Amino acid sequence: PRPILLTRHGESKDNVRGRIGGDTILSEAGELYAKNFANFVEKRLKAEKTASIWTSTLQRTILTASPIVGFPKIQWRALDEIYAGVCDGMTYEEIKKNMPEEYESRKKDKLRYRYPRGESYLDVIQRLEPVIIELERQRAPVVVISHQAVLRALYAYFADKPLKEIPHIEVPLHTIIEIQMGVTGVQEKRYKLMD
Ligand code: F6P
Repeated sequence: PRPILLTRHGESKDNVRGRIGGDTILSEAGELYAKNFANFVEKRLKAEKTASIWTSTLQRTILTASPIVGFPKIQWRALDEIYAGVCDGMTYEEIKKNMPEEYESRKKDKLRYRYPRGESYLDVIQRLEPVIIELERQRAPVVVISHQAVLRALYAYFADKPLKEIPHIEVPLHTIIEIQMGVTGVQEKRYKLMD
């Protein structure tokens, strides 16, 4: 069996401010997670001859990968966070206050709701298809550093979760989800590195 390690980027400055989307750098806690995560990956993949590190094209995942040495890194646009369109950079409170209809429609059907000029969970699931095909094809371990909505969709694929649950799956910061792909099926472990 070969492992696939899934993690969100370390805490970003926008996470601290409660702003969605954007392209900010890491907070101090986020930088600390990047270091701890690199140590974890180094130990976990010590025995492996090859492995690759996949990130999105956003700074916060690239910075989270940066302390990891010795493995090739690949950036995928398909791993970028769900795009919130006109709501990009807002807090949930601002959306609720300034665009109450949008807020309510999303609450009613988070899976299908598409942000104005942005994406829905269904859009994200669709754009992840080439990533999933490539993940299935790999023989060596892969470390995927991405974002909350994207990782919900990726995790749901491997854990065989129904579509309607995807937007509500818990994928906390500073936590590693290890998926083992074996002949007998898929096994899962979670490691919480920091609070
Ligand atoms: O808040 C972090 C974040 O990654 C945002 O950039 C993104 O819009 C959001 O999470 C996705 O989660 P949800 O679908 O629950 O709003």
